Amino acid sequence: MAVTPARTPLIAGNWKMNLDHLQAIAFVQKLAWSLKDADHDFATVEVAVFPPFTDLRSVQTLVAADKLPLAYGAQDVSEHDSGAYTGEISGAFLSQLECQYVIIGHSERRTLHGESDEVVAAKVAAALKHNLVPVICVGESAEDLELHGQAAVPVAQLRTALAGLGSAADIVVAYEPVWAIGSGQAATPDQAEQVALQLRAVIADSLGQDVAAKTRILYGGSVKSGNIAGFMREPNVDGALVGGASLDITEFSSIIRYQKHVGL
Ligand code: PGA
Repeated sequence: MAVTPARTPLIAGNWKMNLDHLQAIAFVQKLAWSLKDADHDFATVEVAVFPPFTDLRSVQTLVAADKLPLAYGAQDVSEHDSGAYTGEISGAFLSQLECQYVIIGHSERRTLHGESDEVVAAKVAAALKHNLVPVICVGESAEDLELHGQAAVPVAQLRTALAGLGSAADIVVAYEPVWAIGSGQAATPDQAEQVALQLRAVIADSLGQDVAAKTRILYGGSVKSGNIAGFMREPNVDGALVGGASLDITEFSSIIRYQKHVGL
């Protein structure tokens, strides 16, 4: 018998620096058709895509014109509202493009662009200020894992990211072990559950029990159609942040439709 999850699962596709705006239009159209053909119920499993900034206007136009039940967001946001910040994108601009979400603190931003926990916290505050739901990414590197175990670093990262937020914060958290991203070596469902449980405790501590109970915690790192079911069976894992596999329509649709092929 189908079990109703405590929170609406979210399957999110992080395109990273892939697909230009023309490719994005074709991709989103095909994804929507594929899910429609499969009678996907978007109220049961929410779907969001995170294209590059230059694609967002095209995706917005398509989603609005065809009334597609897809959510979308950006992969980063500036901590500032406007001004002399060459190359940065304000949350106000993303709101104008009707983005619902924005990814913040992805490990590639943290490692390749030197984003500290404090910068991540400022970006989370900026997203909320502009009515965007931040998808806050946390996760330990292989070295952290060896030195501190699995949960210590993501727990500390999340604590800093949430410091100073009001209790009404509408957020999503993504647990992405750095060693699992793009490596083909996903965490086990039990590992993801154990960390998600601790992250939920951090949310309860920082923002209260009610927010903790309704916040979705995603797992990310080498998610595929073949391993999604195991993660989704865990009570504290409420979806997935999918990188590589989100660029393949058949594979991404199959991840979104995990309930069908696993009988959940
Ligand atoms: P991956 O990436 O699914 O390709 O491992 C996940 C991510 O970076 O969000």
